Amino acid sequence: MQAQIDIKSLYSDYVKTLETYIMFRIKQRTMELTPELKAKNRAPINLSIGAPTQPPPQTVFDSLKTALCEPGTSTYSTPKGEPFFLEAVVQRMKNRFGVDLNPKTEVFSLIGSKEGLANMFRCLVNPTLNEREQDIILIPDPGYASYKEQIGVIGGKAYPMPLQYENNFMPCLESVMESLKNDGFNPEKVKALVINYPNNPLGATATRDYLKKIVEFCRLKNILLISDAAYADMYFAGQEAPASILEFEGAKDIAIEFHSLSKPYSMTGWRLGWACGNKDAVGILGKMKSTVDTGLFKALQKAAAEILTSKEGDKYIEQANLQFQKKQEILLKGLKELGWDIDNLLIPKATFYLWLPIPPGFSSSEDFCNQLLEKSGVVVVPGTGFGQYGEGFFRISISPGEEALQEVISRLKQDGFTFK
Ligand SMILES: Cc1ncc(COP(=O)(O)O)c(C=O)c1O
Repeated sequence: MQAQIDIKSLYSDYVKTLETYIMFRIKQRTMELTPELKAKNRAPINLSIGAPTQPPPQTVFDSLKTALCEPGTSTYSTPKGEPFFLEAVVQRMKNRFGVDLNPKTEVFSLIGSKEGLANMFRCLVNPTLNEREQDIILIPDPGYASYKEQIGVIGGKAYPMPLQYENNFMPCLESVMESLKNDGFNPEKVKALVINYPNNPLGATATRDYLKKIVEFCRLKNILLISDAAYADMYFAGQEAPASILEFEGAKDIAIEFHSLSKPYSMTGWRLGWACGNKDAVGILGKMKSTVDTGLFKALQKAAAEILTSKEGDKYIEQANLQFQKKQEILLKGLKELGWDIDNLLIPKATFYLWLPIPPGFSSSEDFCNQLLEKSGVVVVPGTGFGQYGEGFFRISISPGEEALQEVISRLKQDGFTFK
């Protein structure tokens, strides 16, 4: 007799609890509501997606086309990355950050930094669903939504480090360790600490002094320092360029950094990035990756190598950042008119995000974002999508064009979404 078929009963215990990724949840809900919103002249305007919408630099298309026809392009590449790609990364890290790297031991190619981070966590965590016995990875909260699930799904504990106005979004690490103990966790179980400056969703940057302290702290405690540098090149004119953690003395003994071509070059769909830093961390990440993927398409690596080392790439980033800055100004002006206390908020000088308090009168971030979508067709992300400390806030991504942003402000006004 055939067994009762129930695929869901075969899922792992953790996966049974896994929620759909926040961005896909928002996308699904927006799609459901689209006909209704269009009918009332409120077609969705998407301020939720963390992706630039302008086309990538022309160079990447040209070099991809050329590379496609080169002999040997279609065979497996080495998981580590082709020598020309690794050399381009080394050159980029030297020119942009003044960091010296050995392409043989200190760099590894990634299918985007999200993949790299997930595999790094897998290298560190001994899986168990017993919370008290779990290996711990400290993550920023609010922070990129993937960290928590990526750690949870492999049986680890993601412990939040609160990034709040009071600490200028740079938490005191000693206090975090104290809270961890008070919450009944064993500090000896902390394997790694994730930092992400400039930060998604806050747009916050860190001072050099703070980064230096983090390196010292991790060295002292033998904690792997994981720096997520996905937004390192996205900063406004006149601001100090965000640092690589590898610029700091002793960092290479304890840190690995994750870089991405997604945001600076508007290449989110190309899936290109790299990890670099401590050779043991890079080595073990590479060993793990070699078992689960087989490297990047060589033609993509050619295009990436070209843009990373070209003047056109730098110019493109500069222009894109200027546009984000201009669009941020437009939004801030409008939001100020609607009552947001813009002059007393920490306004990002990097990334393309805005992190704002929800107006009084809404029961939660989720409630505000739902109402904004249902009434005005404006799609933003509730702060709680980025962690428990995100309650009371929402994230705007300023990726759409200026006209769309003006339309957002006008809808907020017409539909009564003011900060009063
Ligand atoms: C902080 C942060 N890290 C990493 C990523 C992943 O980027 P990618 O996988 O495209 O390199 C994102 C994407 O939104 C992000 O916001």
